[in-house]
Amino acid sequence: GKVAVLLGGRSAEREISLKSGSAVLAALRERGVEAQPLDPGPDVLERLREGGVERAFIALHGRGGEDGRIQGALETLGLPYTGSGVLGSALGMDKYRCKLLWRGLGLPTADFVLLRGQADLVAAADLGFPLMIKPVHEGSSIGMARVEDREALAQAWRTASGFDALVLAERWIEGAEYTCAVLGHEALPLIRLETPRMFYDYEAKYQAETTRYLCPCGLPGADEAALRRLALEAFDAVGASGWGRVDLMVDGQGQPLLLEINTIPGMTDHSLVPMAARAQGLSFADLVWRILETTLG
Ligand code: DAL
Ligand code: MG
Repeated sequence: GKVAVLLGGRSAEREISLKSGSAVLAALRERGVEAQPLDPGPDVLERLREGGVERAFIALHGRGGEDGRIQGALETLGLPYTGSGVLGSALGMDKYRCKLLWRGLGLPTADFVLLRGQADLVAAADLGFPLMIKPVHEGSSIGMARVEDREALAQAWRTASGFDALVLAERWIEGAEYTCAVLGHEALPLIRLETPRMFYDYEAKYQAETTRYLCPCGLPGADEAALRRLALEAFDAVGASGWGRVDLMVDGQGQPLLLEINTIPGMTDHSLVPMAARAQGLSFADLVWRILETTLG
């Protein structure tokens, strides 16, 4: 049957999604799947219903596509789709509630304060500088900033508020960043990210030539296995399923700290999940096929 590849959308990560979706579309066609691109607008339901589509591969990033909304629409139409359901998608897009859940379950994550008003800036400063400021529902590090004092904190809050009504302040983690791809019920090999920049920001993710990706990640086997288990726990905790990616760091004391999860991580040819899949012997097309299979269960 025909597969609609949903790509683009209207979030701040539209450009990344167009790349992810095009790569997915090409891989499906390479495997002989009849696949068509669909950039969802207000008429997405009609277009899905009239297009003879049997299932959807969601390659949307950010709000509207990764946060449960399109998933809910597809549920209503009775169309199977890739990846997490409504709840896992909605929670996965919400960095604040992810962290609340993880903390509640005793899973490690850096201390944080939700910024809703001036009083919260005081509470945030009490965490100690530097701090990382993040829009709660954004991706690809959009709107994020590292701040070292109260003035910069107030400024970063204003900037991040331009992207999202909810903004999070998180204690800065000095350490190494890793990411763990999840496919089915399995955690794939860890990738270590290294950048000479202040952090793994939008430029380091998509533009800089200086970002280094290490896979194998360089950790002793037992340590990597523990982080992979942690990633799976964090993924399950928010009700995510099918596939995704858990981002985490290990601080100078060796303490792992969960950053966030992505229920529809990037699928460009430079993206991390395809890189981890390759380390596991799966080509990009194999990976896309395995993700498509998540529409079956
Ligand atoms: N939010 C981007 C697409 C990622 O996590 O890969
Ligand atoms: Mg993200």
